[in-house]
Amino acid sequence: MKSLNSLLALIIVSTLFIGCSNSSEKNNATLQTPGITKKDWGEFDGKKVYLFTLENDNGTMVTISNYGGTVTSFVTPDKNGKKSSIIIGFDSLQSYLQHPPYFGALIGRYGNRIGDAKFTLDGTTYKLAANDGKNHLHGGLKGFDKVVWDASIPNDSVPSLTLKYLSKDGEEGYPGNLNVTVQYTLTDDDGLKIEYSAVTDKATPVNLTNHSYFNLTGDVSNTILNHTLMIDADNYTPVDTSLIPTGEIRSVKGTPFDFTSPKMIGRDIDSVKGGYDQNWVLNKKDTSLQKVAELSDSISGRSLDVYTTQPGLQFYTGNFLDGTFINRGGKPITQHSALCLEAQHFPDSPNQPNFPSTILKPGEVYHAVTVYKVKLK
Ligand code: GLA
Repeated sequence: MKSLNSLLALIIVSTLFIGCSNSSEKNNATLQTPGITKKDWGEFDGKKVYLFTLENDNGTMVTISNYGGTVTSFVTPDKNGKKSSIIIGFDSLQSYLQHPPYFGALIGRYGNRIGDAKFTLDGTTYKLAANDGKNHLHGGLKGFDKVVWDASIPNDSVPSLTLKYLSKDGEEGYPGNLNVTVQYTLTDDDGLKIEYSAVTDKATPVNLTNHSYFNLTGDVSNTILNHTLMIDADNYTPVDTSLIPTGEIRSVKGTPFDFTSPKMIGRDIDSVKGGYDQNWVLNKKDTSLQKVAELSDSISGRSLDVYTTQPGLQFYTGNFLDGTFINRGGKPITQHSALCLEAQHFPDSPNQPNFPSTILKPGEVYHAVTVYKVKLK
């Protein structure tokens, strides 16, 4: 994940700053950039919020806001040519300011939970916000999902959007100034590629992910329990009652967590208290970009391949969705009406010595890529 190349870090830091200073210049060029449009979407924290639409030659469209780096829709045709979004979301910034549970958002500085909202690093104990019972979840009270990112449009032949955010030393209790860049790209073959990089000036845990909720039918009144899922993982990390990993890496064999062959999500879900909300330990052995999961649905004929460089995948069946939020189009988002496949490092890694390290040190570069690629079967 991290290279110990300080020269590379220096280049990235310089690019981050040059990128920030150029952003308004680039923004003015948006109309000339093929496949991407930008519209005003309001204001938050005294900063302008935009909605960007990325479109490729197939007519596949992704909309992304610089508020929370949120993917608000991913529109593709179904087997009958009818277009709809396979990601749940809203059409107005106002709805996102009501704090839906991380719909489509970028998550950081640490995606998923940190037990007892604290960790010790190099002899210092850092106290974080306990925003999930006694635990810390998704970066705290105001994580990367609730801030306005600097947006610019790179000079690229494919539609893409660059988002930058400086998370200051001490923000949400974390050490170090963390300079984060996320690049979203819509590929020619209908992949939403998310590339994360970050550098820091003090050692800090970092675990970045995206929290899109998928329903491949494009209609939240169809449960995702009828979707079929394959996860290329022979093991998972069991959790305690507050969803903190016990530290064990356990085989999925003979358990409801076995998705090594495609399986209907609803088949075994009743034997998992509360529904699926665990981290799968991906079989891939290195940090190359590899296919790790495939989701499919017979109603729409769509399927979604997930590729990642990350070691883990949090599969969450929308267990806490309770109808409070209404999807675009007017239907309530209820339990199991959408699911998440969050590519990431394992939860609570800063407190789990046998999990791969999530500590980024000065001079290192955090780098991760995840691609959600939709196709018709
Ligand atoms: C993650 C967690 C879930 C839940 C959702 C947000 O996916 O794993 O337990 O907190 O975010 O509601």
